[in-house]
Amino acid sequence: MSAGYAGLVQDSPHTSNTYHRLTMRTLSSGGTAASLHFKHTMDKDLHRLVLTQGINLQEFCVSQEYGFVLSDPLTDLPEYYQPWMEIAKHVPSLIENRQIRSRVNEMPLLSTVHLQGHREQRLAHLALGFITMGYVWQEGVKHPSKALPRSLAVPYCEVSELLGLPPILVYADSVLANWKKKDPNGYVTSLNLDTIFTFPGGNCARGFFLVSLIVEIAAATGIKAIATALNSMSLYDTNSLHEALLDIAKSLNNMREAFKLMHGNVDPGDFYGQLRIFLHGWRDNPLLPEGMLYEGVWEEPKHYSGGSAAQSSAIQCFDEFLGIRHRFDYDAPYLYRMRDYMPPAHRALIQAIAAGPSARHHIIATGSAELCHAYNNCVTVLVELRNYHINTVVKYITIPVNKGKVTSGCIFQIHSSAVAERGTGGTDLMCFLKSVRDTTRRVLINDI
Ligand code: HEM
Repeated sequence: MSAGYAGLVQDSPHTSNTYHRLTMRTLSSGGTAASLHFKHTMDKDLHRLVLTQGINLQEFCVSQEYGFVLSDPLTDLPEYYQPWMEIAKHVPSLIENRQIRSRVNEMPLLSTVHLQGHREQRLAHLALGFITMGYVWQEGVKHPSKALPRSLAVPYCEVSELLGLPPILVYADSVLANWKKKDPNGYVTSLNLDTIFTFPGGNCARGFFLVSLIVEIAAATGIKAIATALNSMSLYDTNSLHEALLDIAKSLNNMREAFKLMHGNVDPGDFYGQLRIFLHGWRDNPLLPEGMLYEGVWEEPKHYSGGSAAQSSAIQCFDEFLGIRHRFDYDAPYLYRMRDYMPPAHRALIQAIAAGPSARHHIIATGSAELCHAYNNCVTVLVELRNYHINTVVKYITIPVNKGKVTSGCIFQIHSSAVAERGTGGTDLMCFLKSVRDTTRRVLINDI
C-alpha cells in the first residue's frame, strides 16, 4: 500500500487521453528541482494543448447535465458485499443504539477484487466512508476511536487507492455520489431526490447533502461555459466568449439561489449539534491529535481532513478560469490540499483550466468594454456567492458556537471549543473565508 494518496495516479477509462496523462503527471510531480522542471514543462505542454485542442469535459468525467455529480449512481452492491451494505444502510440506528462498532468488529474481511467498474467502486467508497465516520464518532466527541479495524481499513484503503481518493468520507462521496431518484422514472428535481446513506438527525443530514448536490448541479452549465470560453479564446471568437461569460454568471447566480434551499431544509441546531461531528476528520483535530490507525494497512496513524464542500471542484474551476490566485501565505495551501480529496479526473480539469490561457489577460487585451463588464459580472456574482456562504456559516456554525446551542437530548454535543471554533476541515474559519472572498474581489478589472 502506498504511503499517501495525494496526487495518486489512477487508471480510469479516461487515462488514455493525452490531457489526462499530462495533468496526472503534472499533479503527481513532487518538489525536487528535477520534478519542478518537469512540472513546468508539463504546464507548458498543457497550456499548448488547451490552446490547440480546447477542453472536452467528457475526458475529465464531467457531464454536460450534472457537472461533477456522478450520473446515475448505483444504490446497491453485489451479494458478496452485503455485510458492508447492511451496516451502511443502517448507520443512523446503529449509531443511536451504539452498536456500529460491535457490528463492524464482527464484519468479515472482504476482498475488493469483485468490484466491477467505477460506479461500484464509488458506491463501495461511499458505504465504507459512512461506516468509518459512524465507527469513529459513535460516542460523539468524548471517545472517538483512534483505530479502524482490519476488516474495515484494508478494503477501504484498497478501494481508495483504486479511485485515487483518501480513505475518509469526502465530498465526492457524501454529496456527488450519494443520491438517487425517489421515482426512478421521474426527473431530477429537489422533490424527487433522496440520499443513499445518511447520518443520525434524519432530515438535517439528508437536507445538507441534497441541497449541496443541487448547488453542484447548478454549477454544471457554468463549467460547460468555461470550456466554451476557453475554446472561444483560442479562436478569437469574442461573441461566443461573451455568451459564455453570461452563462458563467447565470450559473453562479443559480448556485446562490439553490444555496438558499439550505435554510428550509437544514436546522442550524441539528447541523451543529448532530451532523457536524460525523464530518470531522483526523488532521488538525485536537480530539485525534495522533491521527487514525488503519489496522492491517500502515504501522503509523494517518492524518486526513474531514469532509467539506471546500472539496468541491466546481468553485476551484471558476477561480482558476477567472484568474483568482489565493494567498500562498494563507488560504491557498488549504484549498490546494483539498484537491487531494477530489477524484483525480476532476482535479485534472482544474489543473487544465489553470494551465490554459488567462481569460482576464485575454479580455483586457481585446479592449472590449462589453467583455470586461461580462467578466466583472462573473467576479461580482462569485463574490456574492461567497458572501452568502459566509452568512450561512455564521448561522450554522458561529451562532450555535456562541449560544452553545444543541438539540435537546442529543448525545453528540460538541464540548470542545477548539473544534467548535474551527471549520470541519480545521481552518480558522471566518478569517479564512473572508480572505478567500477578498482575493476574489481583487481581480475585478478597474480601467474599463
Ligand atoms: C450549512 C451549509 C454550509 C456550511 C455550514 C459550510 C461551512 C464551511 C466551512 C466551515 C468552510 C471552511 C473550510 C473548512 O473548514 O472545511 C467552508 C468552506 C467552503 N465551502 Fe462551505 N459550508 C456550507 C455549504 C456549502 C455549500 C453548499 C457549498 C457549495 C457547494 C460550499 C462551498 C464551500 C467552499 C468552496 C469552501 C472553500 C472556501 C471558498 O472557496 O470560498 N459550502 N464551508
